[in-house]
Amino acid sequence: MKLYLAPLEGVTTHLYRNTYEKYYGHIDKYFAPFISPSEDCPMTSRERKDLLPENNADVYLVPQILTYHANHFTDAAEVLRTMGYKEINLNIGCPSGTVCAKGKGAGLLKDPEHLRAFLDEIFSFGQRHQLEISLKTRLGYADPDEFYRLLEIYNEFPVSELIVHPRIKSDMYKGSPRLDYYEYALQHVKCPLVYNGNVFSKTDYDVFSKTFGSEISTVMIGRGAISNPNLAEELVSGTSKFDVTRFWAFHDSLYQQYKEVLAPDINVLYKMKELWSYWKENFDDADRTFKHIVKAKKCVDYERIIATITPR
Ligand SMILES: Cc1cc2nc3c(=O)[nH]c(=O)nc-3n(C[C@H](O)[C@H](O)[C@H](O)COP(=O)(O)O)c2cc1C
Repeated sequence: MKLYLAPLEGVTTHLYRNTYEKYYGHIDKYFAPFISPSEDCPMTSRERKDLLPENNADVYLVPQILTYHANHFTDAAEVLRTMGYKEINLNIGCPSGTVCAKGKGAGLLKDPEHLRAFLDEIFSFGQRHQLEISLKTRLGYADPDEFYRLLEIYNEFPVSELIVHPRIKSDMYKGSPRLDYYEYALQHVKCPLVYNGNVFSKTDYDVFSKTFGSEISTVMIGRGAISNPNLAEELVSGTSKFDVTRFWAFHDSLYQQYKEVLAPDINVLYKMKELWSYWKENFDDADRTFKHIVKAKKCVDYERIIATITPR
């Protein structure tokens, strides 16, 4: 089984990815959070910094593009190609209202014929430039039955991998993934298929793999791997133990790096607070402590608060 780390905007930055790889690993592919090219600007300087190969030297990284316009995709893909990337992912799943209103992300699913023309253009570009293009999709915009037509469309193109998050737009990230549609994808897809959604523990994975058996070759893990950075190792090795020493080493390294690049303190703490919204579940007293972390305004306050978290 292969494991991919899902892109989480604001969380899985290059500093996060490299630090994660150093302390935990067991990830075959890291997906960068989306870049959103515009007419005049295929990539902002911040996005470029996050994707620069020298900033991602220790991980296999797949950049992701979010757009409604095929020419914006190909402009950004051209820049990524000159940076050395040979594989790019298209985001057809982001459920955010503002994103979908512009026809991007899951918004692309609203109009399958536009999507088809869009894919036609970007896959022609991909073939001309030996660029692999993978897709990360939901089942549909308003109704999961849209997936039948969408899969027919995806099957028309040389998709390098189809990552399916079996929810529709309005599900956001809540409720159970619609596994019956995933079963349909397994039976009808013509390219390698990747599952994504709600794998939070070894038990979740076992239930899932019991349902689908050996047909599951690749799983993309997101929130589960952020909450428990050891999740990938647990899925691979079959043992589960939250190693506190390793967690704090990972935390301290990431925190120091954010302190170096994100000053003033408030920006560093913004990042750490977001991470603690995931990490807190590993610590018995962390709900109460998390409330203090949220209120911290200075790094010294933060450091004093986390020193009280047990176990350490
Ligand atoms: C805060 C947050 C940011 C996300 N950013 C992205 C993104 O940039 N690109 C993307 O394709 N998916 C994004 N996602 C979706 C995740 O990649 C993933 O599909 C989703 O969390 C479901 O997988 P999980 O249940 O393993 O977490 C994001 C999800 C969250 C919660």
